[in-house]
Amino acid sequence: MPDRVAKRSIRDLDLAGRRVFVRVDFNVPLADGAVADDTRVRAALPTLRHALDAGASLVLASHLGRPKGKPRPELSLCPVAERLSELLGRPVRFAPDCVGEPARQAIAEAGPGGITLLENLRFHPQEEANDPEFAGALAALADVYGNDACGSAHRAHAPTAGIVAHVAEAAAGLLLDRELEHLGALLASPARPFVAVLGGAKVSGKLEVIENLLPRVDVLLVGGAMAYTFFRARGLPVGRSLVEADLVEATRAIERGARERGVRLELPADHVVATGLEAGAAHECLAVDDPAIGERLGVDIGPETGKAYAEVIRSARTVVWNGPMGVFELDAFSQGTLTVARAVAASEGTTVVGGGDSVAAVAKAGVGARVTHISTGGGASLEFLGGRTLPGVAALPDR
Ligand code: 3PG
Repeated sequence: MPDRVAKRSIRDLDLAGRRVFVRVDFNVPLADGAVADDTRVRAALPTLRHALDAGASLVLASHLGRPKGKPRPELSLCPVAERLSELLGRPVRFAPDCVGEPARQAIAEAGPGGITLLENLRFHPQEEANDPEFAGALAALADVYGNDACGSAHRAHAPTAGIVAHVAEAAAGLLLDRELEHLGALLASPARPFVAVLGGAKVSGKLEVIENLLPRVDVLLVGGAMAYTFFRARGLPVGRSLVEADLVEATRAIERGARERGVRLELPADHVVATGLEAGAAHECLAVDDPAIGERLGVDIGPETGKAYAEVIRSARTVVWNGPMGVFELDAFSQGTLTVARAVAASEGTTVVGGGDSVAAVAKAGVGARVTHISTGGGASLEFLGGRTLPGVAALPDR
């Protein structure tokens, strides 16, 4: 693990009898007033259980959605308090505001060893503004600060960055700790061959990651709509597929960079092309140089590509995968993504999967337990892999 991610862990602190403020990422989808997907709530449980078992009281804070600094009842964290209480099997007191008297009162009512979830931090504009007074008001609610919000580590906000200056002790929670360990190892000391599989809609979203991974990987497998910008640069027919015209030159530079470094950069050899992006759209498989694509668009990698990518993945000792190989939401166009998910799971090397669709594909294929690390960090993890310093991590003291 490189020095820059060797941060103090909550495990290093004495938490007995202390009040611990944990910045969690409970930015979860809600439906009909309830949590529709509790993955992020579950992901925080190890840290919360660790602190409770150590005899701490918990004050939990998160944002939910983007209310732009104003209270919006439909973005209240109240339903998350209910779900958390079910998952922990203990009462969770909900504070109707994240600072001031409502917060203090709820914490007092929760009592020693109790759990309080504060209302949505983003109901206050000072959260995103990293306002020092607001950071101080949050810090005043507890004795110790823990950051377990992987998904928000790229935000320089009051509860992820500013708060650290106002607390006596700060540390990474277990989820953030694990994320930094696994992502840090990918960048610092990957076992070889190291294979990166990148997909998703746009090259623009992955440009930094590609540039930062190129000097480190042995093979880069590209899929998803982002492959079509590479195809355009190669003069291949792309039909109505998504092409980022302003990045065609960037893909040429990536291909050049890969050649110079001896990195094997693979693009699909065949693909599924369809008349549209709706379920039931007519589709067929073609070689990527077949002009019969006409005005149709690419929606998945083809079976030949799936087989070739799976072989490369299976023989790797380190694999990082981010981004689907096609329009994964539609069953007819999900085969390439599922093939990659199964291959990643079958690899005997270290495997790290990130990004909503890739994580969903691993779950859909029923192979999540066979992946070394499933990253919940979303955009923050991509920034980390892109070589950026994450303000929420930088703010924490080194171990
Ligand atoms: C996420 O969902 O990616 C994180 O919770 C960060 O949310 P944000 O982009 O609104 O800061």
